[in-house]
Amino acid sequence: MNLILLGAPGAGKGTLAAFLIEKMGVPSVSTGNILREAIANNTELGQKAKQFMDAGQLVPDQLVIDLLRDRIAQDDCKNGFILDGFPRTIPQAEALDTIANIDVALSLEVPDEVIEGRMTGRRVCLKCGATYHIKANPPKVEGVCDKCGDKLHIRKDDHPDVVQHRLATYHEQTEPLKDYYGKQGKVKSIDGTQGIQQTERFAVQALGL
Ligand code: AP5
Repeated sequence: MNLILLGAPGAGKGTLAAFLIEKMGVPSVSTGNILREAIANNTELGQKAKQFMDAGQLVPDQLVIDLLRDRIAQDDCKNGFILDGFPRTIPQAEALDTIANIDVALSLEVPDEVIEGRMTGRRVCLKCGATYHIKANPPKVEGVCDKCGDKLHIRKDDHPDVVQHRLATYHEQTEPLKDYYGKQGKVKSIDGTQGIQQTERFAVQALGL
């Protein structure tokens, strides 16, 4: 299955993707993680993306379309993939239609009022990409990644003023994708406010896994 996860920043796409990787046996492709890794390694892509990401703006379409095309052409995606954070605009969705067939766009529904608490409590591992929440999903040892033992960080774009900007960008540029995939009959929506395990159950049900 080729699956897209749709939802606001902080809706829980990355958290659900980590669960679905095991359940579906396909990789998750997170454009946000790829870009953060490029910034950490100070690559040309990272240098181009940094200013946009720190300000909570979208990286230019062509940059992410090219990186996505290269990533899903890799061998591990040949039996399916989960897209987390792509597409984010109608031009990205149109480009994706020329690259791959999408089966389902699963939309995680979380209102803006819930998002800020998700962002301020989030801690991430920059080494392996694992995501935690200080209340909803704490690491075993505070500040340390369960998976690889590296130090956990607060993302620069999780500060409240940047979060507001990211939400505005989401409503303006990304939310119209629900209509785009709705017209193709591919949208399934689930409630994303009910805790991590319940969200996983809703996803399993909606996807018929
Ligand atoms: P990206 O990394 O994709 O960020 P995002 O979409 O803003 O999504 P997040 O990673 O913030 O949230 P999430 O939905 O994955 O939530 P998570 O699972 O972490 O993009 C970052 C930036 O990169 C963009 O702003 C842009 O600049 C650039 N970019 C990336 N892709 C791009 C593209 N295609 N085009 C252009 N630019 C692009 O969960 C959040 C927190 O909540 C965690 O702490 C988690 O533990 C907790 N949580 C999760 N689920 C639940 C639950 N059900 N109940 C309680 N807590 C929960």
